[in-house]
Amino acid sequence: MQVGHQAGKYSSVSCDLLAYPMFEEEAVDSPLLQALDEETHGVLKGVLSSGEFKPEIHNACRIHKPRGLKAERLLLVGAGKKSQFSLSRLRDVAGTAVRHARIAGCKKVAFVPRGEYPQVKVAQAVAEGGFYANYEADAYKTRDKEGREVENLLLVTEEAEPGKTDQGMRRGTVVGEATNLARTLANEPANILTPSQFAARALEAAEKFALHVEILERDQMEKLGMNALLAVSRGSDEPPKLIILRIKGQENVGGHSTPVYAFVGKGVTFDSGGLSIKPAEKMEEMKADMAGGAAVLGAMTALAQLRPKQRVIGLIPAVENLPSGRATKPGDVVKSYLGKTIEIINTDAEGRLILADALAYARTLGANRLVDIATLTGACVIALGAINAGMMGTDNEMMDRLRKNVSFTGERLWQLPLDEDYRKHIRSEIADVKNVGNRWGGAITAAKFLQEFVEDTPWVHLDIAGVDLDRDGRPFASKGATGFGVRTLVELLS
Ligand code: BES
Ligand code: MN
Ligand code: ZN
Repeated sequence: MQVGHQAGKYSSVSCDLLAYPMFEEEAVDSPLLQALDEETHGVLKGVLSSGEFKPEIHNACRIHKPRGLKAERLLLVGAGKKSQFSLSRLRDVAGTAVRHARIAGCKKVAFVPRGEYPQVKVAQAVAEGGFYANYEADAYKTRDKEGREVENLLLVTEEAEPGKTDQGMRRGTVVGEATNLARTLANEPANILTPSQFAARALEAAEKFALHVEILERDQMEKLGMNALLAVSRGSDEPPKLIILRIKGQENVGGHSTPVYAFVGKGVTFDSGGLSIKPAEKMEEMKADMAGGAAVLGAMTALAQLRPKQRVIGLIPAVENLPSGRATKPGDVVKSYLGKTIEIINTDAEGRLILADALAYARTLGANRLVDIATLTGACVIALGAINAGMMGTDNEMMDRLRKNVSFTGERLWQLPLDEDYRKHIRSEIADVKNVGNRWGGAITAAKFLQEFVEDTPWVHLDIAGVDLDRDGRPFASKGATGFGVRTLVELLS
């Protein structure tokens, strides 16, 4: 899809579909709607008085051959209550317009943005929403493929700020495509996206973008003593991979005092639970247990193009968690990369084991700000549902920034506590720590476990177990993986 900008009146834009967002409390005789009504010789008033369209968020109404417009169709899109509008909603409304265009087989779409925001942000949000909506999870369909991609998305504004608009559109394109890459990876079935294939996709991305990729193989991890990570991989015939991503040309960014961020993403390409096996129901969703890793790869491809002023490395421990005659058993004890010993009580609490070694290794590589992102606990889904990701950590400054960015990213985060008192639940009788607590506060005890391995390095943990998949479908997106985290990670460094 190409995104572009046209300055001038929307009535003179020729396209297959012109999308015009409307607010709920907007009166037909407000200056903007009055103008739209006059341009269309009364079409707007006709539609609104018929009562068939109410501009509740994501409602829409398609009008063919509207009089007075060069567009083939006019799409009125509900933007919801003006008081609840935000750049994030603007992104979603642009997405809804693109989804409607796809339904109608429209190739060239023009979008009129609403709300008072800086032009660069508007352009980014609309481009992001456009790419997000134009994605369809149909890679494995050989029939009934829609083939209805929108080819052109045009942002229409009366005044031109070409420099700012182009910059925003470029950012939006980069971030939108990075998000879709993360979605594609998380949507892949586990027979296709094995740890080796995950590493291959990272190498592929490195060829396209200015990324340097290093893959640590099993023998190297054995030498380094990454026995927590290796314990998860033992039951599988698929070899584990530790994918390390760096942005080319960033070695000398900033001085020695600038922070070095590490983004660490859980890359369990399939989580059967291991010997502590999961019930069959919904087990297929565990092909997406690498969504955190996918978000890290997506974010790194975007950052390689956006060139942040801070240094950042990406780490993705990629493994498959299966039962077998060689699998790790409940009660096994391993020595982690950091040196702390772990009693593995439950082999289904595997994410924290691979993250423990990857987080500790990130510190060895020089990282002094850690962010991990992981589909870590069902307990987080129970606590926050599919609306907010859980956020925990020791770096309040970074958590404040992450929270502040939500109004733009739309990726909602809710902080859970991390008091020292929760530590007692993961105390082991025979090792330094055990990998599960009791049933209570499971998202927090999981984070407490990770904290053992980040020690004093400033750190934030994002539990995306509830938000990685969209099961119900949304008006602005295909069902399936959401790519949650790409926007959050990119924005953190912007
Ligand atoms: N990958 C799961 C967490 C998960 C659950 C993600 C539901 C997405 C949806 C994780 O590895 C896991 O199995 N966690 C266990 C931990 C428990 C054994 C302490 C859980 O949450 O049940
Ligand atoms: Mn598990
Ligand atoms: Zn898991």
